[in-house]
Amino acid sequence: MRLADRTRNFTSFKVVDYLQAAVELQAQGRDIVRMVIGEPGFVTAQPIVESAKQALSDGKTSYTPPCGIPELRQAIADNYRRGYGLSIDPQRIIVTTGSSAALGMICDLLLNPGDGLLMSDPGYPCNPNFVRRLDAEPQFVPVEAEENYQLTAALAASHWRENTVGVMVASPSNPTGEIISRDNLAALYREVADRGGNLVVDEIYHGLTYGDEHIPSILEITDKAFVVNSFSKYFGMTGWRLGWMVIPEGLSEIINVMVQNFYISSPSVAQYAALEAFKPETMDILESRRSEFKKCRDFLVPALRELGFGIRHVPDGAFYVYADVQAFTDDSEAFCWQLLHEHGVACTPGTDFGHHRANHHVRFAYTEPMDRLKLGVERLRNALK
Ligand SMILES: Cc1ncc(COP(=O)(O)O)c(C=O)c1O
Repeated sequence: MRLADRTRNFTSFKVVDYLQAAVELQAQGRDIVRMVIGEPGFVTAQPIVESAKQALSDGKTSYTPPCGIPELRQAIADNYRRGYGLSIDPQRIIVTTGSSAALGMICDLLLNPGDGLLMSDPGYPCNPNFVRRLDAEPQFVPVEAEENYQLTAALAASHWRENTVGVMVASPSNPTGEIISRDNLAALYREVADRGGNLVVDEIYHGLTYGDEHIPSILEITDKAFVVNSFSKYFGMTGWRLGWMVIPEGLSEIINVMVQNFYISSPSVAQYAALEAFKPETMDILESRRSEFKKCRDFLVPALRELGFGIRHVPDGAFYVYADVQAFTDDSEAFCWQLLHEHGVACTPGTDFGHHRANHHVRFAYTEPMDRLKLGVERLRNALK
């Protein structure tokens, strides 16, 4: 069949391949410790589920306004006021079908064919494909453990090319869980803005941070950047396909046209359910889950270090540990397949997240309960004997 040339450039989301293999082994009766996918092990909090049931009973099953029901846009704005002290016009908040749709639409908005977008290597595997879909160029910037695997102003300056039109970062990041400090974020924004570019900040792991300090949103620094966020991670609603973006003023109309055409509206029941996500009763549940994740991180990082995995810095957020496996292998994919098939531990090879030292890294997700993580570590100990 004749397909568009660009389809040859799309790369697979390897984590899904490894998850699929884990699920198949489980179906055959094998017990697999799943440290593979970036999905909270908890089911969606009960108040959100109840709100969805109510929405269904009330017949809230139609299309909604393209950019989201006004109550939800307002609730997200209120959350920025409570959590960040920010006053954001709800017109700048666009509800989307997961942050995936937001990332795609921001690329649609910013990139012409041939334009370049800087992003870190390692980074979230889908981002380069949103760029390739537009016949534009993902421009990878290798980042090191020493700089917390994050893009800095200096790196943006040294990798900026003639066709570069912007930078996309995530803080906390997938796969490393590392954050960008307020100073670094401000300097990065300045560098990009001075070059006439746009900055996109993926804040999907906000809320899932484990230190005492406040994690800054780029919106505290400027209202000219693009922000992506989601109900998937902190709010534990991966399958509901609901996210949002905050866009600079003046773009609501064009975004409205794009959403109308691309998917009409986000799922109505999910939107009504999400109204419950910011309520104190739900937040209490989400905060106690966050403290479980913190316990898991605090167990896993020293346990992996003791086994010989290289982890330079304790990651501040998300639910990932990006571990150096040089001591064990030069082929992270083979290493992960072996761990899965022979030892019943599923994790993701660094090659899912880019090229830079990718064969020397593996990502562990600590989304399963503590007893399962402990079992996973015991299995790793046996595997590495
Ligand atoms: C950094 C990052 N951004 C975006 C997404 C997409 O999430 P969703 O579409 O479920 O909001 C993910 C999912 O793992 C992610 O890790």
